[in-house]
Amino acid sequence: MKDKLKEIKELAVENLKGAENLKALEDLRVKFLGKKGELTKILKGMGELSKEERPVIGQLANEVRETIESKLEETKKFLLSKEQEIKIKAETIDVTMPGKSKILGHKHPMTQVIDNIKNIFIGMGYEIAEGPEVELAHYNFEALNIPKDHPARDEQDTFYINGNLDFLLRTQTSPVQVRVMEKGKLPIKIIAPGRVYRSDEVDATHSPIFHQLEGLVVDKGITMGDLKGALAVFAKELFGENTKVRFRPHHFPFTEPSAEMDASCFACGGKGCRVCKDSGWIEVLGCGMVHPKVLEMAGINPDIYSGFAFGMGLERVTMQKYAISDLRLLYENDVKFLKQF
Ligand code: DAH
Repeated sequence: MKDKLKEIKELAVENLKGAENLKALEDLRVKFLGKKGELTKILKGMGELSKEERPVIGQLANEVRETIESKLEETKKFLLSKEQEIKIKAETIDVTMPGKSKILGHKHPMTQVIDNIKNIFIGMGYEIAEGPEVELAHYNFEALNIPKDHPARDEQDTFYINGNLDFLLRTQTSPVQVRVMEKGKLPIKIIAPGRVYRSDEVDATHSPIFHQLEGLVVDKGITMGDLKGALAVFAKELFGENTKVRFRPHHFPFTEPSAEMDASCFACGGKGCRVCKDSGWIEVLGCGMVHPKVLEMAGINPDIYSGFAFGMGLERVTMQKYAISDLRLLYENDVKFLKQF
């Protein structure tokens, strides 16, 4: 029996050495120590032993069991750490591997131009003002000295709200001028970018929704010279250092005198090209000295204060700057088109 026990011990130790995984280990535990295992079989035969032999064999059997158990435990630890090692290896990150680059979008060309123009004026000390897109006819027309029979007031051109001629979608950003002046805080130096609405059919140069940027400066002693100086600087910043400007007489109900400003073509320098339609000049904005009646209606004394104002279409400026020939391209969000800017 002694020999048998020794044999079991040696066999168990030998088998355990070859155990490759936890499953194999468990099978060995059952084989040697389980209810029907080798050791249990021996112990079952103990009843036949003499009184003297029993404690000796019992002790030996215990030793064998302990040895097998401790070997089992040892092997288990070893296998577990090996498994862990394999897992860690599989999970290591190769930091030298080239990354997957994400496709980044960028600002829409309109947004780029609006940001650009805003920054130019902010740099000259202007503040940004805002007004509602659903506007009172009073601010959009009356307070800007636009008479009742002016074509812009026709229902063909203006979106009125529910047919009520007092409420409309603003047709220009100029009503923001009036709202700012009415607040009574002087001097004033603001720009007001925003959406405007006109009842136009969509084509290459028209859209029922578009964007304008309004400017207004009011203080004591403001002259046409201030207007020309400010807008000449603006044109150079927007179109380049060598840009020249010229002012052509024009008419707006809310300014007197009024003018339109052209900038020398940034694409050809004034020689004539596709961008300026061979004229050498591009039309940039409308402007003028704020009409005394407009100042007065907003509660500002025109005998003490004067001001200049200007307004430009932002789609048009964007199209000029990037030589885009069709306005619709700015709204269609075709990624292939937008990627160029
Ligand atoms: N509101 C004018 C328009 O929609 C643009 C404009 C012209 C605004 C002259 C001004 C200005 O403030 O002085 O065509």
